[in-house]
Parts: sequence; structure tokens; C-alpha cells
Amino acid sequence: MEYYKLFIFALSFANTVSCTASLHHDGPQIQWDACDRSIVNDTSLSCGFLEVPLDYQDPSVGKARLALIKANATGERRGSVFFNPGGPGVSGLTFVNDNKNLLLGLSGGVYDVVSWDPRGVGNLTIPGEVFCFDDFAEYTAFFNGTIELTGIEETGNFTDPADINALLAQAPIMQKKYEEVGQKCLHSQSGKYLKYLGTAAAVRDMVSIANVLDGPDAPINYIGTSYGTLIGSWFINMFPERVGRVVLDGVVDPLVFATQEPALSFASQLVSADTIYKALITGCALTGPSGCAAASEGDGPLDIDFKVQALIKTAYGATKLNASVPITSGDIRIELFSEMYTPADWSDAVNEVYPQIVQIVNGEAPANGTLRKRSKELIRRNPLVGKRDSQPNDSPPYSGAAIYCGDSVDLRGTTMEQVLKGIISTAQNVTHLFGSSWPVVFYQCSFWPVRSVERYQGPFNKTLANKILVASNILDPITPLPWAESVARLLEKDAVLVRQNGFGHTTLSEPSTCLNEIAVAYFTNGTLPANNTLCEVDADFEVFSGVNTADILAHLPGTDV
Ligand SMILES: *[C@@H]1O[C@H](CO)[C@@H](O)[C@H](O)[C@H]1NC(C)=O
Ligand SMILES: *[C@@H]1O[C@H](CO)[C@@H](O)[C@H](O)[C@H]1NC(C)=O
Ligand SMILES: *[C@@H]1O[C@H](CO)[C@@H](O)[C@H](O)[C@H]1NC(C)=O
Ligand SMILES: *[C@@H]1O[C@H](CO)[C@@H](O)[C@H](O)[C@H]1NC(C)=O
Ligand SMILES: *[C@@H]1O[C@H](CO)[C@@H](O)[C@H](O)[C@H]1NC(C)=O
Ligand SMILES: *[C@@H]1O[C@H](CO)[C@@H](O)[C@H](O)[C@H]1NC(C)=O
Ligand SMILES: *[C@@H]1O[C@H](CO)[C@@H](O)[C@H](O)[C@H]1NC(C)=O
Ligand SMILES: *[C@@H]1O[C@H](CO)[C@@H](O)[C@H](O)[C@H]1NC(C)=O
Ligand SMILES: *[C@@H]1O[C@H](CO)[C@@H](O)[C@H](O)[C@H]1NC(C)=O
Ligand SMILES: *[C@@H]1O[C@H](CO)[C@@H](O)[C@H](O)[C@H]1NC(C)=O
Ligand SMILES: *[C@@H]1O[C@H](CO)[C@@H](O)[C@H](O)[C@H]1NC(C)=O
Repeated sequence: MEYYKLFIFALSFANTVSCTASLHHDGPQIQWDACDRSIVNDTSLSCGFLEVPLDYQDPSVGKARLALIKANATGERRGSVFFNPGGPGVSGLTFVNDNKNLLLGLSGGVYDVVSWDPRGVGNLTIPGEVFCFDDFAEYTAFFNGTIELTGIEETGNFTDPADINALLAQAPIMQKKYEEVGQKCLHSQSGKYLKYLGTAAAVRDMVSIANVLDGPDAPINYIGTSYGTLIGSWFINMFPERVGRVVLDGVVDPLVFATQEPALSFASQLVSADTIYKALITGCALTGPSGCAAASEGDGPLDIDFKVQALIKTAYGATKLNASVPITSGDIRIELFSEMYTPADWSDAVNEVYPQIVQIVNGEAPANGTLRKRSKELIRRNPLVGKRDSQPNDSPPYSGAAIYCGDSVDLRGTTMEQVLKGIISTAQNVTHLFGSSWPVVFYQCSFWPVRSVERYQGPFNKTLANKILVASNILDPITPLPWAESVARLLEKDAVLVRQNGFGHTTLSEPSTCLNEIAVAYFTNGTLPANNTLCEVDADFEVFSGVNTADILAHLPGTDV
């Protein structure tokens, strides 16, 4: 659960109230220095390290080392605001390097923006990235001939009994594979650290950093997006008295996570996904052939959908004839699902990527190095697949699985057959297009061998020292609005929900001056809007040439708010 492209918002630094917390310099210090240039190339950023206990309940186990990054406040500094981009597994260092101005802007420029690579992430924090295979070749050989590499093949809606039988025949194979992967991870170099990774450790690590930077009594400010909102929910309930100004954007429901296995609750994450696809084909039809290569003159959304479905069927048919086609129908679904995160990429998707996929699937272009690599690369980057940030020949990282699965509810004897039947039901009932996406990190959790030494299971309705801001797009493909509403409802008067009238993953997926101003007023002045405020996406942000978000929503049936 991450996003790739962000917008730099217009900033305002009107307010200059000063309330710097008193500092206590008895404990450890952080030495800020130049950053490692192989990871961070913005020379205005500083980096440092902090040692923390590997296990906060058992200091005898040894130390972890956190890699930190800091963007200095641009205005008069009032303390720090911490940030986590999600994943789990996305690097805070990389994200701040790429989005410094966005984060300084959202927080009004009056805080140092501080992030870190959580345990299991990157190669500067210890324990670092989790690898369970020596290299990519070992991974592909291990999963050779399984849906892990090809994706799931089905015609629309997963109703063909032959497809259902073919998938269910994979159940014993995939269960054995995932159990074996768990054991491989356990016996890898990362193995001995797996139980010390996780969200509770991330929360305590953030508090440790805050204690050093701002003092042990100072309020802790935090922005979390996507999975970063789970760190946020655990933080505000584990340390309610430390809550400063906190924004959760693109929200994971912590109650669902604490009570249901990720593989079985995944369907409830996808409730908006098909509607966002409708937004894409609607925008494509509105802009027409000049702005969308998938449209012909006079095409409506259904005509474009027909072409996409036909493409998927062609790929499906080809895969039945030869299992080693360059692009399977499962690949197309995963690629398309990735696009649902970022409307800013839609124009490129329909004009650059889609025609390439059509050519390869129809055999009109050789599936040679260049084209195939590009398409496979887009698929591999999908956050659900969990192989992001890795080079094509690298061993795939298992950090996302290690963190999310290590924190998830205890094993309940769930079988792979139950997981696969859930997928069929999701494709039939929740999302026709994306229900059969595979691989998905969460599907491993029922077979993951380790649980974190500390997991926070609730309550999630503690009384907080300060009110927090909960934000969500009305249509988010992976962290749906109902999850944000659930967090706001649990916290009652301690939370204000702001909705953004757009689509994509987190409100940062589309620019909104309205939402930006709300964040800045909150961070600089503590002011919050009325609960359930609806912000519009900026009208000058064109999803397709001449077509903005409001145009698309106006032509999308059944999404009135
Ligand atoms: C650490 O990761 C960065 C970015 O992925 C890479 O450029 C660098 O070579 C890595 N360093 C080591 C020591 O592996
Ligand atoms: C460094 O800076 C350039 C320009 O901003 C950017 O394109 C590039 O991806 C950056 N990152 C690294 C790690 O080189
Ligand atoms: C950040 O601010 C600190 C404290 O004011 C200062 O010492 C340091 O030089 C600044 N760092 C950068 C990279 O500007
Ligand atoms: C995958 O399996 C096929 C058929 O069993 C075999 O021909 C091929 O060499 C295998 N590939 C790898 C990478 O092991
Ligand atoms: C999937 O089901 C929906 C609703 O039943 C139907 O409108 C749609 O045509 C089906 N799609 C495919 C590809 O079969
Ligand atoms: C199947 O496709 C692969 C890759 O495109 C090709 O190398 C192979 O010859 C095909 N096999 C058959 C039986 O056509
Ligand atoms: C692959 O195909 C593309 C498009 O047909 C062509 O431009 C490119 O030169 C080819 N590359 C290789 C390595 O054959
Ligand atoms: C969903 O699909 C299953 C079959 O996989 C079916 O039994 C069930 O009734 C459907 N509807 C709902 C609302 O779950
Ligand atoms: C939190 O929720 C529980 C269970 O719904 C309830 O019993 C408790 O009173 C709530 N606590 C607060 C502080 O609202
Ligand atoms: C704020 O609005 C959300 C969404 O309607 C709701 O779930 C929550 O209970 C509201 N909070 C308050 C304090 O009314
Ligand atoms: C700051 O907050 C006060 C009350 O808390 C409010 O009256 C004032 O309008 C706010 N100023 C800004 C710039 O938001």
C-alpha cells in the first residue's frame, strides 16, 4: 500500500507562534550529517542514526540501529513532525528525498520533517531488508509453474467452472510453497530478526527518536499514509498522552487488522476498485481519441471497457495455448490495478502502456527485451506484489510480508483452499476486474511462521491529548473510505474526518488546495474544520487532456456524496 507520484502543493507560512519544547540532553544524541549519496541525493537533507533496543521488553537481546532523515523546517521551528509512507516496507529516507517539499508544505514549514527506515527496510537500518531467496533466479525456480509467476487466469467474474477447478487445484501446491517460503525466511540471515520487526516496534522507535529530538514530554506530531496510518493508530492508542498533531491519510482499519486475517479481510479493502476503473474509462471516453489512445471516435465508457475486456480474454486464450506467453491476463489485471492508485499516471497508462500491451498480446510486436521488460517492470512494481524497489534480477524483498504478517492475528488453521475460495468470491461479488489479482502480500500471512514480540490489539478508542485529522479519498482502491470512517467513529470527538472528492490511493494522489489548507491550519494553528468536510480536487488538475476529476465524477453513475 504505497503510492508513487505526489504533488507539490502551494504553501503558506503565515503563522509564527513559537512553542518550542524544552529539551533534555542527558540521554543519547543524534548526530546529523550528510546522507548516504547512493540513497539520498538532496544535499539539503541531513541523516543520522539512533540505537534502540531490539526488544523493548528485553534489553539483553541487543540493539537495533535506525537510519534517520531530516528536512529542516523552513519557518520558525516548533519541533518535529514524523512521517511514514506505508507499504509496509517503503523507505522513509527515499520518500523524504523525493517529496521533501510536499511534507514541509503540508505541515506548514514550522516543523523539521523527520522520517526513518523502519526495521526491515532498506540497507542502513539494522535489521535491514528481509530476503528469503539468494537471488531472483532461485525465486523463479522455486515458484516455477505456479500462479506466483503467471498470476491467476480467469475470464471475467470468475464464473467458468474450468477456471475455478484450475485455481483450486493450485491450493495444496501454493500452501506447501508458502509454508516452505516461511521456513526459508526463518532460516535466512534475516530469520533471527523477524520477531523484532513490526508496527509496535516502529511506534516505540518513533517515540525514542522524538524523546531525543524534542524531549520526553513533548507532544509527538505525525503524518502517516496508507500502512503508515496503522503505525499512527497504534501510536495514538499506545501513547495517547503523547499525541500532538497527527494526520492519518488513506486509512487502514486497525480494528479489522486486529481481528481478521489479512487474507480474509482483503475483499473489504477493494470495495471501490471497480468504480475507480469506471472513472478511468469514463475519463478516457470524455477526452476522446486525442487524449486517450484506448478510445475511438464516438466511444462511450462501455465501448472502452469492451476493448479492455477483449484484451484480457485474448491474453487468457493465448495463455491456455502456451503458458509462457509474455503477458498473461493476470498480469494485465495487476498492471491495471496499479494504475488505480495514481490518476496522475492515467494519461500515460492509456497512451503509452496500454498500446504496448495490446501489441504484445495480439502478437503484433515482438515480445522482445524492451517492451516485455517495461510491462513486466510495471507489474513487478505493484505494491501488492511486494517486489517494489528491487532491481529485476534482485532477490525479491519480503519485508512487507514480514512486517504485516508478523503483526497479523494468530493462525487459525486457515487453508490455502479457503484463501483461494475467498478470491473467487471476491471476483464474483466485490471486484470483477481485480478480485483475482495474484500475488498479494497478504495471502502469505496465514502461513507466516513468526509473530512479533509485541502486537497492539486495542482498544482503539483511547482519549487523546489532542484531536487528530483523518483523511480519505471518497474512492480509494486499497484503503476505502469506510475504513477512515471507522477510525473517526471509534475516536469520536478526538478525530475529525475530511473527505476528498476524488479517486486514487490517499488524498495525495490528487492535488487539493482545500485539503492542503486544512492540513496547514491544523499544523500551524491547531484549527480543524467541521467533521466530514468534503474537499474538491483542484479544478486545474487534468486527469486526461481537458478532463478533470469533477468532470469524471459527474459522469460516473452511483457515486453522489
Ligand atoms: C543500499 O541501497 C542503495 C539503494 O538501493 C544502493 O544504491 C546501495 O548500493 C546499497 N548499499 C549497499 C552497501 O548494499
Ligand atoms: C537524484 O536527483 C535527480 C533529480 O532530482 C532524480 O532524478 C534522481 O532520481 C535522484 N535520486 C537518486 C537516488 O539519484
Ligand atoms: C538545519 O538546522 C540546523 C539547526 O538550525 C542547522 O545547524 C543545520 O545546518 C541545518 N541543516 C541544513 C542542511 O541546512
Ligand atoms: C520450469 O519448469 C519447466 C517445465 O517443467 C522447465 O522446462 C523449466 O526449465 C523450469 N524453469 C526453471 C527456471 O526452473
Ligand atoms: C461481470 O458481472 C457483471 C454483473 O453481473 C456483468 O455486468 C459483467 O458483464 C460481467 N463481466 C464479465 C467480463 O463477464
Ligand atoms: C511458448 O511461448 C514461448 C515464449 O513466447 C516460446 O518460446 C515457445 O516456443 C512457445 N511454445 C510453443 C509450444 O509455442
Ligand atoms: C524490440 O521491439 C521494438 C519494437 O518493435 C524495437 O523498436 C526494438 O528495437 C526491439 N528490441 C530488440 C532488442 O530487439
Ligand atoms: C458471493 O460468491 C459466493 C460464491 O463464491 C456465493 O456463494 C455468495 O452467495 C456470493 N454473494 C455474497 C454476497 O457473498
Ligand atoms: C472504547 O470502546 C469500548 C468497547 O466498545 C467501550 O467499552 C469503552 O467505554 C470505550 N472507551 C472510551 C474511552 O470511549
Ligand atoms: C465524523 O464523521 C464520520 C463519518 O460520517 C463519523 O463516522 C464520525 O462518527 C463523526 N464523528 C463525530 C464526532 O461526529
Ligand atoms: C487560529 O485558531 C483560532 C482559534 O483556535 C482561530 O480563531 C483562528 O481563525 C485561527 N487562525 C487561522 C489562520 O487559522
